[in-house]
Amino acid sequence: MAAAEGTPGTLGTAVPPPPGPPSVPPPGPLSVPPSVPPSVPPPVPPPGPLPPVPPLECSGDDAQAMGRDPLPVLRQILAACAFPELLESPALPEAARSRARSVLREMDAGNIGGYNHEHRSHGVPARVSRFLEFRDGGVPCDPRDIVLCSGTTTVIPFVLSLVVCPGSALPTGVLVPVPGPPLCAAAAGLAGAVPVPYPLDESRGWAVDVAALRREVREARSRCHPRVLWVVNPGDPTGHVLSRPDMESIVRLAAEEPLLLLADEVHQERAFSPERPFLSFKRVLAELGAPLATSVQLVSFYSLSKSAAGESGFRAGFLELVNVDEGVRQPFQLAQSIPRPCVPGRILLDLLMELPEEGDPVRRALEEHRRDLCRDLAANARRLQEELGRAPGIRCQPLAGGPRAFPRIRIPPRARSQARALGLEPDVFFCRRLQEATGLVVAPGSHFGMGGDSGHLGLSLLLPAPALERALLLLRRFHAQFLREFS
Ligand SMILES: Cc1ncc(COP(=O)(O)O)c(C=O)c1O
Repeated sequence: MAAAEGTPGTLGTAVPPPPGPPSVPPPGPLSVPPSVPPSVPPPVPPPGPLPPVPPLECSGDDAQAMGRDPLPVLRQILAACAFPELLESPALPEAARSRARSVLREMDAGNIGGYNHEHRSHGVPARVSRFLEFRDGGVPCDPRDIVLCSGTTTVIPFVLSLVVCPGSALPTGVLVPVPGPPLCAAAAGLAGAVPVPYPLDESRGWAVDVAALRREVREARSRCHPRVLWVVNPGDPTGHVLSRPDMESIVRLAAEEPLLLLADEVHQERAFSPERPFLSFKRVLAELGAPLATSVQLVSFYSLSKSAAGESGFRAGFLELVNVDEGVRQPFQLAQSIPRPCVPGRILLDLLMELPEEGDPVRRALEEHRRDLCRDLAANARRLQEELGRAPGIRCQPLAGGPRAFPRIRIPPRARSQARALGLEPDVFFCRRLQEATGLVVAPGSHFGMGGDSGHLGLSLLLPAPALERALLLLRRFHAQFLREFS
């Protein structure tokens, strides 16, 4: 798991849980000694239906909701920024207090409660651009191409709305991956565009099938103007990371058609396979050289929510605009155009942009936190593939990054008929039965755009290892029993 437990006041200390109820009842008339002696057997429960099994959420992509700890030093710095009396308190490590002092020096009147426009429009974008240059092996990044946002959910429909042609006879089309996050089709609809689904190739580990994608673009022209290609890399729920050759083919397709490339790279810090490291589209585009490097329009996303910090509640992220038309770029300059991150979210995002530096305890803690996340994801992915790999009727593609695995289970024809008779997709039917019997909550593939017959399930890789082990055991056992029941 993320942070090891330590002594209070160190960078590795887990954030203490909120105080719970006292374990010993206070003395007084209510604190009577137990009236039932230990030798009396426990009462027999009355006959009737068994109580429901408590749910165990196993499908999420929200790190902290799935049980991962926040990185203590980030919260410590934030606490001292919000409540400067803590700058002198030994309850916080000196490294956190000293970093909080330097954050506050950048704030108007040394206070995080103001708008702090300069911090938003110059300070943070300058550091984001240095972070991106480091990430991309030196590919230059202009801070003026960075737009901060309060998470990416709200800003994506705004970006899409800028390319929608309102007066056109045909609607604007946005190519969205299937399987993919439900957000993609929803955002297209919110922007007044139509989603155009393109399939990922399961037989090639959920790679983008560029030939199929080209066909989808051309066929879609009879019903819409395809103008945007949305690519999620690392993939969710599929757990894939795109290879450089596939990314190059996608860039070439975007140039030919032409399409604005929307690179949803929010899961970049969750790429955990050394064989398939994350590469940004910005880097691949730049390394292809002119004319592609200077012509393909690209908007890429980064989100604090899916970063190593996993601080989704603080709502912060940014976009990078590359080669985008002036008509798309200009509205971003208007202060009121999109929701901007609040100052605490900005501070956390900014801290994540720190470049590694030997000897600096805050940066070291950040690096360790990133390493721990990837190590845990890789270990969970390995266990998931080992366990499901030996279960008859379950298959899972190789996993390289992202928050989830997307295994496929066999659903016998009799179970499918029963599901249809109940008005349910077969995968939803399976998930309901699984939850009733075991408490496990997994996401049916139809939630990610798959047909309900395919039998895919979204399973979180962010779970603590013991919870994942339990989930895998229950899933395997229940599926074996389900096959027996319906075969
Ligand atoms: C692939 C992907 N992109 C972007 C988002 C938006 O995240 P946020 O609004 O927290 O930045 C999500 C949310 O779950 C997501 O799954």
